[in-house]
Amino acid sequence: MTRKFDFLVIGSGIAGISFALKAAPYGKVALLCKTTLDESNTSYAQGGIASVMYEPDNFQKHIDDTLIAGDGHCDIAAVEKVICNAPTQIEELLKWGVDFDKTEEGLFDLHREGGHSEHRILHHKDNTGFEIQQSLNEQVSNHPNIEIFENYFAIEILTQHHLGEIVTQHSSNIQCYGAYVLNQQSNHIHTFLAKATLLATGGIGSVYATTTNPGIATGDGIAMAHRARAVIQDMEFVQFHPTALYHPGERPTYLITEAIRGYGAVLRCKDGREFMQKYDERGSLAPRDIVARAIDNEMKIRGHEFVYLDVTHKDAEETKEHFPNIYKKCLELGIDITKDMIPVSPTQHYLCGGIVVDLNGKTSINQLYAAGECSRTGLHGANRLASNSLLEAIVYADLAVKDAVPTIEKVEFNELIPAWDDEGTKLPEEMVLITHSFREVEQIMSTYVGIVRSNLRLKRAMSRLEIIYRETEDLFDRSVVSREICELRNVISVAYLIIKHALRRKESRGLHYTIDYPKRMRNDS
Ligand code: FAD
Ligand code: SIN
Repeated sequence: MTRKFDFLVIGSGIAGISFALKAAPYGKVALLCKTTLDESNTSYAQGGIASVMYEPDNFQKHIDDTLIAGDGHCDIAAVEKVICNAPTQIEELLKWGVDFDKTEEGLFDLHREGGHSEHRILHHKDNTGFEIQQSLNEQVSNHPNIEIFENYFAIEILTQHHLGEIVTQHSSNIQCYGAYVLNQQSNHIHTFLAKATLLATGGIGSVYATTTNPGIATGDGIAMAHRARAVIQDMEFVQFHPTALYHPGERPTYLITEAIRGYGAVLRCKDGREFMQKYDERGSLAPRDIVARAIDNEMKIRGHEFVYLDVTHKDAEETKEHFPNIYKKCLELGIDITKDMIPVSPTQHYLCGGIVVDLNGKTSINQLYAAGECSRTGLHGANRLASNSLLEAIVYADLAVKDAVPTIEKVEFNELIPAWDDEGTKLPEEMVLITHSFREVEQIMSTYVGIVRSNLRLKRAMSRLEIIYRETEDLFDRSVVSREICELRNVISVAYLIIKHALRRKESRGLHYTIDYPKRMRNDS
């Protein structure tokens, strides 16, 4: 079946929904998500969204903090664009009904997180993302120009390749015509033709054995864009959150927000001693890459599996008031955070790199945009500053709408795109082949491509991955398309890109630390 829309939006997190809401006055929008509308990284966000609100804060301070965290690898134009647009986008969120916490005086109650020189994090308790997602869902659910497709899994971006042309990364004029999409209820593959397509498919956490991301985070958008020959960059900069709750076996790993350190919590070894000052004068509030590496080092030196985060010295009622969900979650595990220290360890959390976009959210493929975690805007550089990601997503979705709207008048649907061809394929005999390969990829990445890297580990990871890649491509060619096999292919592509880009970088910078090149070699690259 072929469906036609002016705008095809793949992903229903903050990037996808905010794009859909802003594009809808100008044309028909299809909004796809691979499970339900609200299963997204956005829903899990805790700390909040950064924006300059009141003096003594100002744009320059937020810009400087972002550049420092990014370790000399940010694109300054992108940094300025995002930060200076933040207050306007916060207004949009408020108009859509998002309820940020306020003080008794009626001002926004701003938190502070690692790497921020001022209090500038707007939040809703400790579950800001859930509040944003619910408000956006409400707006989008009754919109007459937006059709929502839950349980629709995008498989491939449509380009000239699907018309039989050879497309390479050096092809100068690749055009996006929409996507092939699997309806997971009927198991039919639909052709969605669109005049403009947005990839807003979120993160890649499922590439690792432990992550704060929900299971849907399999990097589909990045893998699809890569197969369509879009430019992908900075994949080596995988962010590990320093303080995920240590509770082996739980997936996703429960996050203990950085805002709790902004509130006064400190990191301690198992014997109760503070250790962060040894690594950075900003102590527990140093940027994330530094804190994660310090914890990793302390754990390795002592042979421990976690360190402690201690908030017991703060007023118990205030702690419960600010962090009610963390309090409840820990209590369920027998940890009363007002009396007991919280066991934490670093875990995969975010990807700074992804599909390269320009200052209008455009990828290197015509009529294909990307926003949110799957994109690489240049804002984060080599390490993302806390709470800059929800902000980046909403700002770039806005820029992409502004760029896409005037183009749709001039673009025709490409009716020549053939229906998906699954001739000669059959149901995979053994599903276990797929699930085992998935687990193998996670293990390879967590063992060899984690916080501290080396050439030897990266090369070993690549050679292990190549075997799984060949087996999976063979299985894919013979199998009827399923979400499972597509996700496996996608995590393999993402893992491949991370390793390839990591091997290419002959220095340590931001989130990429290698024992073979421990220094930052160049000013920027
Ligand atoms: P997501 O919100 O992840 O949405 C992705 C969407 O794409 C989903 O709807 C999914 O179904 C869809 N999708 C994916 N693949 C396909 C496919 N093949 N076909 C169809 N649909 C598909 N950032 C902050 O700024 N502040 C925070 O406090 C913060 N806290 C965080 C806490 C946690 C636990 C986590 C996991 C992340 C946190 N982040 C935070 C990061 C931030 O939440 C994400 O980067 C951001 O929400 C990403 O938004 P997005 O719209 O790009 O993608
Ligand atoms: C957190 O609340 O610590 C996460 C913030 C972020 O990822 O930006």
